[in-house]
Amino acid sequence: MHRIWVWDVWVRFFHWTLVLALIVSFYTMKTEGYPLMFPVDWHARAGYTVLGLLLFRWLWGLFGSRHARFYSFLRSPFASWRYLGQFLRGRAPSYAGHNPLGGWMVLVMLVSLTLQAGSGLFLHDDILFEAPLYGSVSDATTKILITVHHYNGNFLLVLIGLHLVAVIAHRFKGEKLVGAMFHGHKSLASKPVDGPGTRAVQWRAVVMLVLAAVLVTWLWNS
Ligand code: HEM
Ligand code: HEM
Repeated sequence: MHRIWVWDVWVRFFHWTLVLALIVSFYTMKTEGYPLMFPVDWHARAGYTVLGLLLFRWLWGLFGSRHARFYSFLRSPFASWRYLGQFLRGRAPSYAGHNPLGGWMVLVMLVSLTLQAGSGLFLHDDILFEAPLYGSVSDATTKILITVHHYNGNFLLVLIGLHLVAVIAHRFKGEKLVGAMFHGHKSLASKPVDGPGTRAVQWRAVVMLVLAAVLVTWLWNS
């Protein structure tokens, strides 16, 4: 077994905070409010938190540690297709970071999340709530954004479902990915083709977290 350092603390913090914020976002809209009733303001606040997390993650994808960076996990569509074939035949090589298929999935999730939280900023709930940018675009554009928020919200649920299926499929193949998202280390049967992670440059993380915190604070108080 090869025990390898993969995820820096900020990727792990991003992931689990994102999961919590999304649970609140979906709970407040997709349930009848039983057993807990939240006003739409809490839906919006969870969404603002998602936006802050995304700002951080987009920047961390450029300046973060090795396996957090987009260039390290976005490979050609051909490489991803080949990986899928190898995975289905049980002959996929080990990756420490996101594998070629998982890398594209991460990008699609980040884009969909950004579209969801971004479009929310222009909405209203037909009662009292108006998001910070509501009224800054034409009625026709607002209608389009409402439609985007509705359909992309459902698409996001499909992506999350696929994400969980992929994590379970890897578990069946003997890769315990979930533990690594908590403690940062992966145990792999063979040497990974992409090598171990690097330590994060902490001051960069602090700068990006401050930027994200400023955005979230401004939105929460707007
Ligand atoms: C709201 C639901 C979820 C969303 C939106 C989500 C999203 C993501 C994203 C964006 C990443 C990429 C991390 C990064 O590079 O920054 C990721 C990775 C990961 N997620 Fe989730 N996740 C969700 C729920 C879960 C749950 C419930 C689990 C565990 C049971 C899980 C396990 C993992 C694992 C293990 C990875 C790393 C995959 C790898 O090793 O390549 N996720 N997730
Ligand atoms: C990633 C974060 C978000 C998720 C997952 C999410 C999800 C949803 C979902 C599933 C709905 C129900 C849509 C429908 O079925 O028609 C909804 C409605 C709504 N969302 Fe979001 N949303 C997010 C962010 C935001 C943000 C940031 C805001 C505002 C600042 C916002 C404001 C609203 C409003 C005003 C509605 C309509 C409520 C109503 O019709 O009563 N959302 N959202």
